[in-house]
Amino acid sequence: MVRRMSEPKPVILSGIQPSGHLAIGNYLGALKNWVELQDRYDCIFLVVDLHALTVRQVPAELRRRCLSFAAQYIACGIDPEKSAIAIQSHVPQHAELGWVLNTITYMGELNRMTQFKDKSARHNQNINVGLFSYPVLMAADILLYQADLVPVGADQKQHLELTRDVAQRFNNLYSPTFTVPEAFIPKVGARIMSLQDPTKKMSKSDDVEGNYISLLDPPNVITRKIKRAVTDSGTEVRFDEGSAGLANLITMYSVLSGLDIPAVEAHFAGKMYGHLKVELAELTVETLRPVQAEYARLMEDSAYLDGILARGAEDCRGRARKTLSKVYRKVGLVPAAR
Ligand code: TRP
Repeated sequence: MVRRMSEPKPVILSGIQPSGHLAIGNYLGALKNWVELQDRYDCIFLVVDLHALTVRQVPAELRRRCLSFAAQYIACGIDPEKSAIAIQSHVPQHAELGWVLNTITYMGELNRMTQFKDKSARHNQNINVGLFSYPVLMAADILLYQADLVPVGADQKQHLELTRDVAQRFNNLYSPTFTVPEAFIPKVGARIMSLQDPTKKMSKSDDVEGNYISLLDPPNVITRKIKRAVTDSGTEVRFDEGSAGLANLITMYSVLSGLDIPAVEAHFAGKMYGHLKVELAELTVETLRPVQAEYARLMEDSAYLDGILARGAEDCRGRARKTLSKVYRKVGLVPAAR
């Protein structure tokens, strides 16, 4: 399935939690970049459902959302002939390696994780142990596949640092076992902000629908959300960090159109914010139209989607098994009789 060329390509691994709705921020900040990495790297893209259990889920919704996210990966251009696409829980080695890594990760290290602090403040009725050790499971995701590079946003850098520390610790305690991964910050990464509160990152799990554009929003909803996006009271379309709302719309236009910022400014010279909003809405609708069509097709062909996920999981299990058996042997567990 994942074709091995004569010389092995570096391994890239990334994943998104199946919570909320995949948003244009995920597309422009992650998925669109993933698509471009597929030829040069040996890629694994996961729907990390075990991570999603760290906050309360409605089981039927979680199940549906996992498949929906996988279909959206493919609809966005992740090609199952080039990359492995898998659901994390289909590969039991994630939880198994996670356990071993838990035993070499310190409470103090996890206590410092800012995402844990944020999430425990937001879910203060459910500060569970899984939420605390979430970064260890993430480390397992990465280290199982000997990933060289991990495309992540700024908010995940701390978790990646921890992954590197844990990998190095294991390698030092036993013997070289894990590739120590690097964060991979794509050249054209885009940090897309909330439409109503452009000082915070667009979140797929935002309670306020107007804050994000879902990849599955119909055209009229996309247009309405962009029209209502917060901007200051200026008129001229000029990129200025101080004008966060406008800067965000210009960034979105730039990434979607492939024009750089000065070219976007030139394009809208003499025009007003309203023009930018109208054109940005059209561009977003046109970008998402083929994605949504492909998504609808995939969701109607569940046998095809299941087949892709079965192949992806099988590929991942084969690779994960190798790492895990090394780890079990090195820490002193008795191999099971075969
Ligand atoms: N923690 C990541 C997030 O919240 C998701 C994630 C889980 C991940 N495992 C991963 C990302 C492995 C990259 C690699 O965004």
